[in-house]
Amino acid sequence: MSTDTVGLEKATATAPANIAFVKYWGAVDLERALPVNRSISMTLSHSCTRCTVLPREDGSSHEVYLVDETGDRVEAPEGFAGRVLSHLDRLRGWAGYDGFFRVATRNNFPMATGLGSSASGFAALTLATTRALGRELSPRTLSVLSRRSGSGSAARSAMGGYVEWPGGDVPDVAERGLAAPEDDSGGHARVLAPAEHWDLRDVVAVVETGAKPVPSVEGHRRAGTSPYYERRLELLPDRLERVRRGIRERDLELLGAVLEREAVDLHLVAMSSRPPIFYWTGGTLEVIREVRAMREDGVNAYFSIDAGPNVHVICEPDLEDAVAGRLGSLAAVRTLIRDGVGQGPIVSDDHLL
Ligand code: PMV
Repeated sequence: MSTDTVGLEKATATAPANIAFVKYWGAVDLERALPVNRSISMTLSHSCTRCTVLPREDGSSHEVYLVDETGDRVEAPEGFAGRVLSHLDRLRGWAGYDGFFRVATRNNFPMATGLGSSASGFAALTLATTRALGRELSPRTLSVLSRRSGSGSAARSAMGGYVEWPGGDVPDVAERGLAAPEDDSGGHARVLAPAEHWDLRDVVAVVETGAKPVPSVEGHRRAGTSPYYERRLELLPDRLERVRRGIRERDLELLGAVLEREAVDLHLVAMSSRPPIFYWTGGTLEVIREVRAMREDGVNAYFSIDAGPNVHVICEPDLEDAVAGRLGSLAAVRTLIRDGVGQGPIVSDDHLL
């Protein structure tokens, strides 16, 4: 064990999920999660992952558990556990530690359903592990290390409020204004505006709780095979600017129009990739129709959908109850999550192990 690991201790961190207003879809380097395009998101106040990491000085391998809603520890699903193990190895390499960890992680929302559990999960894992190794990270370093898990959106979950992730460091991508060059903080996210700037609400209509059919990482890999992928990239600089302005000026109509186009185009690209990926279900469409009907009735709310069937509906606080009432009465909606804009990750003593 290396000498600078003195101070090993159990550590727990909680990190928020986020909803992408402009989506990361397609990578120039999937292993390092360097995206083709910039993305912007809102950090969520309710949906989060809590993660406890216990260094095991006597162990010979890592152990990874999920804590379910009853508080029981269960084996983590294979795919997720594999990604956690690789990230633990990456982090111990970074810190110069050659021991092992026991990890327990708990989400307060359904996992792998397009609600951001990998973003919150890997940001929480990164913060808890580095804290267990006695390291204090700046939000910027937390963002870079979380991104290196392979979940690019985890780079944004390292920060609170409204967050932009400038993205990759590949010159031709930077020249097209899609992503920033390395010297312009490409590898980490930055706060566009703090949560206090604009109290937006996100009523999430959960129409499916089972794991999505194709993980995001595979969606990024296939994105470039869609004939519509390049066209979406051409549209992005203007969309990014509108989203920044919408946030700056607290203009929900401006922001909302882009949110919906982005949600549709992400899925258009996914559905036209080879082989195609269909994340939407009948329930997704039922919610989309209801949001459009709401607007006709003067309820100003807009949908966004990440890589899954579940739908985020963004509105201002005075309309949250009306939106929840309308969505809650739909046959397709199993549960609603009442969320809003929130703060970045925190460390606590609320251990899971
Ligand atoms: O960070 P990943 O690899 O889980 O990909 C995220 C993909 C989307 O959620 C669809 C978009 C985004 O920017 O969060």
